[in-house]
Amino acid sequence: MSEHDIADATSDASLARSVARSHQIEELLATDPGRFRVLTGDRPTGRLHIGHYFGSHANRVRLQNMGVEQFNLIADYQVIYDRDGVGEIRDNVLNALADYVGMGIDPARTTVFTHSSIPALNQLLLPFLAVTTDSELRRNPTVKDELAGSARPMSGLMLTFPVHQAADILFCKANLVPVGKDQLPHIELTRTIARRFDERYGRAVPESPVFPQADALLSEVPLLLGMDGTKMSKSKGNTIEIGMDADTTARLIKRAVTDSDRHITFDPSGRPEVSNLVQLAALCLGRAPEDVAEELGDAGGGGLKKLVTEAVNEFFAPVRERRAEAIADPAQLWAILADGNARANEVAEQTLAEVRQAMQMDY
Ligand code: TRP
Repeated sequence: MSEHDIADATSDASLARSVARSHQIEELLATDPGRFRVLTGDRPTGRLHIGHYFGSHANRVRLQNMGVEQFNLIADYQVIYDRDGVGEIRDNVLNALADYVGMGIDPARTTVFTHSSIPALNQLLLPFLAVTTDSELRRNPTVKDELAGSARPMSGLMLTFPVHQAADILFCKANLVPVGKDQLPHIELTRTIARRFDERYGRAVPESPVFPQADALLSEVPLLLGMDGTKMSKSKGNTIEIGMDADTTARLIKRAVTDSDRHITFDPSGRPEVSNLVQLAALCLGRAPEDVAEELGDAGGGGLKKLVTEAVNEFFAPVRERRAEAIADPAQLWAILADGNARANEVAEQTLAEVRQAMQMDY
């Protein structure tokens, strides 16, 4: 076995462990949602799209509605780690708030907040940076990609963003973070930081650590591609946004890439573009993609697109209606954020007080 194979085998084993643990947690969630606190987040660099919805936000709403306490971060300080300036930050934050309300996030139950409004969260970065090494950071897959692939010099914030994410998770003592498998290294680092903090500065009573060991919650959502058949991503302009109207949605789906075989099948590796559209219709219709493909039969690309358009527009109609109502009243959205920030600040100040006490710096 080469070194590379060994690394792969190790990560396969740890992935299998995480999958098993997620199944276990799903069972616990069903019977005892009160034992979990969830932290999730989004970078406000653009609009949320249907890939975000099916990949993450639908699951957040599910957890919220099960009675799990949830903190939802609009990660505005993450916007500045890989670009100059802040972009349309106020507009992006406002639209994220409207998307949340549209998708069913209930601000009375889920604490919605922004990084920059929570000084005590950000202060956790200092002791956390002290227990993290630069080689751990350079090994992080996201940082590594950035180092290898980016034309711009890496900022110090980019290098240390996994530590900042650990602060996002630990300031509210979240013990559960819904993620995709590519995010597992972040959760692992968060666990390491939590453990090291307690080893180095922790309380006199080792059985009562300041920070919990957070678990990842992996979900089995299929990856949605963009309308051009490549990864759906706001930077590529191939997304269908949550807030788009029905006509724009229809136009984008009409332009989607398909192939010349009129017989529709669900074959993600052989026919990725067609299968992606089948998948999207299936998600909106709550049906199995194989069934949707079979029913379409020889309908061709045109028939497929017609079905997808109807399914997407129908599924998102109530979401879009709620969203439109929300964005019509920006003052109300800013009030929701102010409320969430007040709650997050209370929690962050409490945690920071414990941290300073553990470190004997509570003068
Ligand atoms: N990086 C996440 C994104 O791009 C947002 C985020 C910030 C996050 N801090 C987090 C997610 C902590 C999980 C845990 O959407």
